[in-house]
Amino acid sequence: MTKMHSKIDPEFVGAHFPALNKDWVFCDNAGGSQIVKGAVDKISEFLLEKNVQIGGSYAVSQAAAAALMEGRKAAQTLVNAARPEEIVFGPSTTALMQTLAGAMRSQLSPGDEIIVTLADHESNIGPWDRLREFGIVIKFWPFDHETYDLRLEDLEPLMTDRTRLVCVTHVSNILGHINPIAEFARFIHEKGARICVDAVAYAPHRAIDVQAWDVDYYVFSLYKCYGPHTAIMYGKYDLLGELDGMYHYFYGKDKVPGKLEPGNPNYELAYSTVGVVDYLVALGESVGGGGSRRDRICAAYDAITVQEDALTGRLLDWLNARNDCRVIGKTTNDGSARVPTIAFKFDGQNSGEVARKMDDYGIAIRFGDFHARRLVENLDEAGDDGVIRVSMVHYNTLEQVDRLCGALGEIVGSNAAA
Ligand SMILES: Cc1ncc(COP(=O)(O)O)c(C=O)c1O
Repeated sequence: MTKMHSKIDPEFVGAHFPALNKDWVFCDNAGGSQIVKGAVDKISEFLLEKNVQIGGSYAVSQAAAAALMEGRKAAQTLVNAARPEEIVFGPSTTALMQTLAGAMRSQLSPGDEIIVTLADHESNIGPWDRLREFGIVIKFWPFDHETYDLRLEDLEPLMTDRTRLVCVTHVSNILGHINPIAEFARFIHEKGARICVDAVAYAPHRAIDVQAWDVDYYVFSLYKCYGPHTAIMYGKYDLLGELDGMYHYFYGKDKVPGKLEPGNPNYELAYSTVGVVDYLVALGESVGGGGSRRDRICAAYDAITVQEDALTGRLLDWLNARNDCRVIGKTTNDGSARVPTIAFKFDGQNSGEVARKMDDYGIAIRFGDFHARRLVENLDEAGDDGVIRVSMVHYNTLEQVDRLCGALGEIVGSNAAA
């Protein structure tokens, strides 16, 4: 067996991300990551060689259909789904959540309950909240304000025999720690409900295993996971079969996943998933991973975790050493439970002004509520232009974190704790 060395080679990574050779330091990756070259190549290949409608008898149309299926199979491997039909492509996570909520209509009756969290991005709240219109009861699962955890003891009293679905984030795009999704799924299933997970802020950072976790619906955006602007929803095959069709009436219930992809998915972007997955496989090999493609993907994510832990540690150390700064989320990374998506606020400083000044240093960060408005308002952090967020991925370097901290220090002053 090959020995894993688990350390990412920055040159290997750099060769796959041509956009990183520019002057900017990208620390706004939870807003959108850079795209891997292999994904761009797949898009061009599709557009230049296969750009016709699928479903025709002629060879090019067959090739287009095969490319779409390759994209589905790549996504299947990425999330470890049981079959490619469990993959639904859509324009964005927001749109997929809206599709899912709409497609659940006929299985919900007035008085049925859906639980959403206060820690989620609005994409996994709003589409469910709109079902109030049809008599569905929406309840909010609060998080602990000290630990920022979503606790099962707070979920339990909300659940009744009318609870049909619990919608929860795998990682909040502000708080940045990983929720124990398998544990949540087990608890929710025991109570007879289903789970819908927003994995947008998780997917770039750790391996996904929908079967091991036994989640029912699992949704994330490829443009934050080294691909282009498209998104992926996994759903258990039988559950997708139960959903209403969102396409034409003659797309029957059994047309999975086509009935959930009205107007068809964007073929070239779906096909680009192959490029993203090929990259992760190659990254896994580059750190000594062997075995199946899936094994190599897991090796890649192990190495990504090592790199990200270093980045997280370096930034948290700097932030924690100050006495004028509040991290909005856990201040430590015990057991690699955090991804390098770190939000914070400086006393007496406007977050927007700080973030805008960083532009002059060529360092891209972001401020605001990041569409997790209910979370930021619940924490009473919406004032002064919300929070500052630094969000890194494995292609960021320690040298970049030092540059970022140096720039922040110049902007807000060198106020380190004694
Ligand atoms: C955690 C989280 N969920 C959902 C979304 C929405 O994704 P999309 O832009 O694909 O609709 C985002 C986007 O920032 C996000 O960070």
